[in-house]
Amino acid sequence: MRILIVGGSGFLGREVARQATAIGHAVTATFASRAGSLPGVHWLPLDLRRTGEIGVVVGEARPDVVVNAAYRKGDWATTADGAIQVARAASARGCRVVHVSSDAVFSGSDVRYDECATPDPVTPYGAAKAAAETAIRLLTPDAVIARTSLIVGDGGSPHEDFVHELAEGRRDGVLFTDVIRCPVHVADLAAALVELAATDHTGMCHLGGPDAVSRHELGVLIAARDGLDAARLPAGRRADVPTPGALDVRLDSERTQRTLRTRLRGAREFLRRAD
Ligand SMILES: NC(=O)c1ccc[n+]([C@@H]2O[C@H](COP(=O)([O-])OP(=O)(O)OC[C@H]3O[C@@H](n4cnc5c(N)ncnc54)[C@H](OP(=O)(O)O)[C@@H]3O)[C@@H](O)[C@H]2O)c1
Repeated sequence: MRILIVGGSGFLGREVARQATAIGHAVTATFASRAGSLPGVHWLPLDLRRTGEIGVVVGEARPDVVVNAAYRKGDWATTADGAIQVARAASARGCRVVHVSSDAVFSGSDVRYDECATPDPVTPYGAAKAAAETAIRLLTPDAVIARTSLIVGDGGSPHEDFVHELAEGRRDGVLFTDVIRCPVHVADLAAALVELAATDHTGMCHLGGPDAVSRHELGVLIAARDGLDAARLPAGRRADVPTPGALDVRLDSERTQRTLRTRLRGAREFLRRAD
């Protein structure tokens, strides 16, 4: 299968590209600022803010499926309009679309959200992701829209970097005890996306891990795995600061999980320290 990964140079996109190549798919991946260096991947530059570029890229890559893992926080043109352009360009050429979305489309007022829940975003980022979802669902009803939560790896994610910087006193900040999410490991998430890309799934999918943990508990788990002093991680409550943002958002991914071969591990499992 030919796969085009939009945002292939990002944290998630790189892992999707690596896994898809490893199992024999022909992979083209895009970058906005710097090409990746994965063997066997064909790299193309793409800026979704430039109208028409995505059409040229899809025309050159001639994919069977387009996985969109591109976004830029605070940039509606990339995250909302750009995602819609990706779906339009893909459907114009009859390609399947797998679009990566986020639990940021939810406010937290209902706490637990399954695939049928209606978005009610409270941040500009959440609003951009929700706008993209709505347009893609209407433009390309056969698309997969895959919502996920905090993406963690074996190092290298911004969440892990932040914990290291806090524990080593290189940065000010706190880890909220009242912000709850369902983190997922980047390798599990990428495997699920490759599986969804290669099968006939359609519609809304939730790809969060089964463990709901606070940002602070996540930090403590990362610190324990990486041999850092968890006592140095400052704890705080988002409810006490004016920053807008959802508190308790738990992606219920049970329905999607039942349809997948890939198992999504919970944070307490994938961050368990290897003794
Ligand atoms: N990280 C999380 O915890 C998390 C949680 C929930 C959902 N998500 C979703 O997961 C997806 C992947 O996230 P990530 O953490 O892997 O993001 P990331 O590491 O920031 O990667 C973003 C990708 O988008 C590309 N990009 C940025 N601006 C672009 C533009 N104008 N045109 C084309 N490409 C552009 C970047 O290219 P360059 O790097 O080359 O500039 C990069 O390849 C996103 O849809 C995000 O909303 C992430």
